[in-house]
Amino acid sequence: MDLDDAGMDGWEAQHGLDSAEGPVARIMYASQASIRQSVYQEMEKIRASALKHNEPAGIATALLHQSGWFVQWKEGPAPALQDIMERVAGDLRHFDLRIVHRSRGPRLLSGPWSMAIAQCRETSAEMEMRVRQLKQQVDDGMQFSPAAVWRRLSTPMQHPGAMRQQDPDAFQRVLVCAAHGMGSFELVRWLGERHCVEIVHRRFAGAIELDVGTDYVDFEQEGRVWRVIAMARHGLHLPLTRAFIPDYSHVVLLLSIDPERNSQLMERVTRAFQGVRHPPALIGVASRPEMHALPASLARQHGLPYLTAVADSRDPHATWRAVQPPLLLWQQAANSSICSGINPMVVGQ
Ligand SMILES: Cc1cc2nc3c(=O)[nH]c(=O)nc-3n(C[C@H](O)[C@H](O)[C@H](O)COP(=O)(O)O)c2cc1C
Repeated sequence: MDLDDAGMDGWEAQHGLDSAEGPVARIMYASQASIRQSVYQEMEKIRASALKHNEPAGIATALLHQSGWFVQWKEGPAPALQDIMERVAGDLRHFDLRIVHRSRGPRLLSGPWSMAIAQCRETSAEMEMRVRQLKQQVDDGMQFSPAAVWRRLSTPMQHPGAMRQQDPDAFQRVLVCAAHGMGSFELVRWLGERHCVEIVHRRFAGAIELDVGTDYVDFEQEGRVWRVIAMARHGLHLPLTRAFIPDYSHVVLLLSIDPERNSQLMERVTRAFQGVRHPPALIGVASRPEMHALPASLARQHGLPYLTAVADSRDPHATWRAVQPPLLLWQQAANSSICSGINPMVVGQ
């Protein structure tokens, strides 16, 4: 069991999908950070406050710091959410707070706290422009799921191919995880070099000292725009990671020659997928067909679709070539609402 999982079972029992809890209030805002130094330490202090006050009140939150801005996603019972929002709004560590999402619906964050720090070169003015554009769209009546709002602010798709689409947020998202080693990050790096595009790095942290890295690249291939995201194995269970699982078309699993490692990865994946209503398909990558037997049977036991690709999972080129055909079977139209995260069903619940 992971460190971060230790305190989560109580939360799951009270607020998980199997609990009796109904829909909750969901709110997201962006605000300008007043702090310029020691952002990580300051966020650790906020985490301590949030765990003290939010958890007993049933509030889950994810906090992002990026380009001099905070973005916060909160979910929970409406009255408690209102109280905490009032307290947070008066905090001098930020100002210019703008609400960018409000809805009622099922919980999407599966634990009390997640945080992310984006290390990127963009200026606070560029971030502000995105906040302003999004707020304008929301004020004009467009509806976005919380995950789509988070993505638009933190990791917007800026590939020129996506800009030509009617909805720039409509692109295929693929998560990659390796049973052993850094193969997922190597695949993303290889894709970045091949398409001459920048690799974006992110760091997440859960409720206890756990720091998780993730990298992604955006590129155009086979007439569609892709985002391929490498995720560290131990990042799979973080509430923020789990909230995005329904947004992926597929999760690619780079299997190991050690069956024990594969079953550990499958255990992490099946736990992370728990309660996801429309899980993405898994694609196992292994050098010999018989290596798929164990992960395929574990996937079947949990009702998860499992596709096979035969390639040396340590070789990015061979891996990408082998996973392309099943990935291309994904037929979501580029501008479909499911693909873009614009989901009135979710937002309106
Ligand atoms: C961007 C931001 C987000 C915050 N989020 C929370 C939160 O979710 N829960 C919380 O209790 N305090 C949060 N805080 C801190 C509160 O504003 C306040 O300092 C804290 O709740 C005071 O409680 P304490 O003295 O018991 O730590 C946040 C502060 C900032 C700047």
